[in-house]
Amino acid sequence: MGLLDQIDKNKLPRHIAVIMDGNGRWAKEKGKLRVFGHQNGVLAVRDTVEGAVEAGIEFLTLYAFSTENWNRPKLEVMALMELLVATINKETKTLMDNDVRLNAIGDLSQLPDRCYKQLQEAINKTANNKRCTLTLALSYSSRWEIVEAAKKLGRQIQEGRLNPDDINDQVFSGALCTADMPDPELMIRTSGEHRISNYLLWQLAYAELYFTQKLWPDFRREDLFEAILDFQKRERRFGMTSEQIK
Ligand code: FPP
Repeated sequence: MGLLDQIDKNKLPRHIAVIMDGNGRWAKEKGKLRVFGHQNGVLAVRDTVEGAVEAGIEFLTLYAFSTENWNRPKLEVMALMELLVATINKETKTLMDNDVRLNAIGDLSQLPDRCYKQLQEAINKTANNKRCTLTLALSYSSRWEIVEAAKKLGRQIQEGRLNPDDINDQVFSGALCTADMPDPELMIRTSGEHRISNYLLWQLAYAELYFTQKLWPDFRREDLFEAILDFQKRERRFGMTSEQIK
């Protein structure tokens, strides 16, 4: 029985978040430039998205570019932006064929114009797709997002539209970029690093964390299925006891 068939469709995580790490190391192992790793990372993105659709995952969020990534060498940043434009352009058809809606979170105003326009076009074109929502975290950091949410709520208080005592988990979640998504139940990070790296800090509060040694360009749908199967073996207690869950 293949890995996909072993997945229990009644116990699927609705939302999976991924930190795609290890492109640079993958390229270095092959004696190539870092950009070569990013280019091959695109193949892993495509296969993972298709795998998520096959498995019935409703929300897939990929960390494609962090706020901190702007500090990388200028040439690498430019190459990554070019790759994003080209990939979004080329893969919009794949998204349409798989009924996937594209979404983006992050400080998108920082993106080069061409990249922003291409992204927005693909978002509009795929807006009515229903099977899966693919969110790219771009120029994203969780602390930035949380600070922006605090500002937003602060303004609502200032304008008399919100009472500070009414702020609770739900209100705060509603002020984040992920307001219309459930929290991720599973977070996957590749390349053997065990960090969250300023990614969805609020949203990952109860997520199961899954780390694999695989470098991102080698990641394929079977690796996603393995992570889902591992998730399904875990007992999620949300602070309660094992007996209470049963
Ligand atoms: C991390 O590897 C990867 C990135 C910072 C960029 C991720 C981008 C892609 C996979 C390609 C384009 C994506 C989309 C959604 C079209 P790293 O460079 O930090 O690797 P290292 O830790 O080995 O140096």
